[in-house]
Amino acid sequence: MPTVLITGANRGLGLGFTKHYLSHHWRVIATCRDQNAASDLMALKNQYTENLTVLSLDVSEDESIAAFKDQLGNTPLDLFINNAGIYGPKDGVSAVLGSTNYEAWRAVMEVNVYGTQKMVEATLDNVRGGGQKKIVIISSKMGSMTDNTSGGQYIYRSSKAAVNAIMRSMAADLAGDGISVASFHPGWVRTDMGGPNGLINVDESIAGMTKVIEDLTPNNSGQFWNYDGENIGW
Ligand SMILES: NC(=O)c1ccc[n+]([C@@H]2O[C@H](COP(=O)([O-])OP(=O)(O)OC[C@H]3O[C@@H](n4cnc5c(N)ncnc54)[C@H](OP(=O)(O)O)[C@@H]3O)[C@@H](O)[C@H]2O)c1
Repeated sequence: MPTVLITGANRGLGLGFTKHYLSHHWRVIATCRDQNAASDLMALKNQYTENLTVLSLDVSEDESIAAFKDQLGNTPLDLFINNAGIYGPKDGVSAVLGSTNYEAWRAVMEVNVYGTQKMVEATLDNVRGGGQKKIVIISSKMGSMTDNTSGGQYIYRSSKAAVNAIMRSMAADLAGDGISVASFHPGWVRTDMGGPNGLINVDESIAGMTKVIEDLTPNNSGQFWNYDGENIGW
């Protein structure tokens, strides 16, 4: 039975990934910041008592990552899905040229970029010890230079561009270990982050991404995928 680690698993896409892999008989290690507020995730515990482990993790806190790493121990991971992410303020001011909020920018980089790097570092030996050896980073088309014809959104765009850059370095650095790395645009999805006008629902996004993840190999490592299996321009 393969094992997947999923961050930000209490809602949105993380919860969708969790449900998908549980229903496909994987062992799932799902993380959330506050187990008391993670009612949907904790409800799954009753259904999947054996296969679901819920661990607490805030990817912006070094102590939290250290405590998580202790609990993970040397559990081999077939797949690590780095999903946790934030958008930053949507106040129409903070991410606008001329009124940039640098404190908010730092907070987004802390989660989306440094959190990703720290989590890959924290789990690298576990992935090395896994059978499938896959690392998936949930990025966004908002990080694509090619796609950026409308401007603005400095904070979120730069964080996802940065995470794509680190994904490429990881793919190169980990090729010798047989580890496949990928980043994904999940689509514009109706979650808390995507909002009600999103073009697809969580199930459509997860169905597409998990199909691509299944086909990841060292031969196609280092690519930026749309949820439907198309490549996205950098
Ligand atoms: N929805 C879209 O249209 C869309 C499009 C492109 C990319 N994405 C990306 O997809 C990923 C998932 O997004 P989503 O739509 O599912 O968003 P969401 O519904 O807002 O969920 C975000 C998840 O990340 C967790 N999280 C936030 N900060 C964290 C931290 N410091 N440590 C650990 N977990 C943290 C949240 O936990 P709490 O509940 O504790 O806050 C929550 O579980 C993100 O990386 C996002 O950038 C989404």
